[in-house]
Amino acid sequence: MNKNVHDAIRNEYDSIRKKSDEELEMKKKGVYERIPGIELIDKQIFQCGLKYNRLILASHDYKDTLELLEKEMDELKLKKKKLLAENDYPDDYLRPDNKCRMCMDTGFLTGSKQRCPCYTQKLIKALYDSSNLELTEHENFSVFDEAYYPDIADLKKYGLKASPRENIIKIKNRCHKFINNFRASDEKNLFFNGPAGTGKTFMANCIAYELLNMGFTVLYQTSPVLFNTISEYKMSMNQESGMLNTAYKRIFDVQLLIIDDLGTEPKSDSRYAELLSILNIRQINNMKKPCKTIISTNFGPRNILEYYTQRFTSRLNGFFDILKFAGDDIRMIKARQ
Ligand SMILES: Nc1ncnc2c1ncn2[C@@H]1O[C@H](COP(=O)(O)OP(=O)(O)O)[C@@H](O)[C@H]1O
Ligand SMILES: [Mg+2]
Ligand SMILES: [Zn+2]
Repeated sequence: MNKNVHDAIRNEYDSIRKKSDEELEMKKKGVYERIPGIELIDKQIFQCGLKYNRLILASHDYKDTLELLEKEMDELKLKKKKLLAENDYPDDYLRPDNKCRMCMDTGFLTGSKQRCPCYTQKLIKALYDSSNLELTEHENFSVFDEAYYPDIADLKKYGLKASPRENIIKIKNRCHKFINNFRASDEKNLFFNGPAGTGKTFMANCIAYELLNMGFTVLYQTSPVLFNTISEYKMSMNQESGMLNTAYKRIFDVQLLIIDDLGTEPKSDSRYAELLSILNIRQINNMKKPCKTIISTNFGPRNILEYYTQRFTSRLNGFFDILKFAGDDIRMIKARQ
């Protein structure tokens, strides 16, 4: 998947350069038709360039001749500028129209293997586009507001000894640690559970936003969509080709997989086995490179056990840090405001 992104970016640069070459040729053609003198000057500039290169390659001391040539070249360029100006063209009209002056639309800083900032920009955009996330712009740590969580402890109401606010601050710190240690193979996955409207999806989006900006691949799927992708893949005759295959493979190798609303997928006997195998494979992949998972669900741990069998729950305990979200329904609070 990462490789596909880079291939796509390389193609994008190729076509940008091709387009601007073509545009330049068109412009030149137009100018030559209107001002034949310019075509002549361009030919002379080209000849000068050839002579110049030849002299340099000969590597003798042609200093005086070189200087003369340089002077001749400068004069030709000036003449060209003047002619263009007299005919109401801007003087850079025939300069190659590169969008990025730092890399001339190659993606790499001129004369180096270092990525141009515009490459990184494109990469992040591509990562966003393939993450399936739309909300990240509105849901990230910069708009995180802990005031939505009550600062009174109420064990009976919230199921916690601490107040929901203390609780969410702790969770937030844990999530920052997850982001900072994302590359570490012993950093655990995260399991969010708690009632609707307590900020589980929001928190997953905050994490996705940070990781995307760090250049990691992210895939967000609600549980029904995820299981749908899997069953479509299994039912398709032609598993080796096409979009479906790519969508299916990404579930296993994307660097952060977010499974939102686990437990809302249609019931079927095979789904827990499928989930287990996804988690197992991702856990193995994670030994070599980041391959982490965030699961969110409204189920409490006991309900999960009823829904997914003992084997799944024990995996969960081994691979995941379980974070319990609590508080009032923020969606309701916002609607009231
Ligand atoms: N920490 C927060 N700061 C600001 N808004 C939040 C925060 N957490 C959640 N929200 C908002 O509250 C609403 C419900 O949150 P959401 O993450 O969808 O809950 P859940 O996934 O637990 O059901 C959303 O509109 C979300 O943008
Ligand atoms: Mg949610
Ligand atoms: Zn650039």
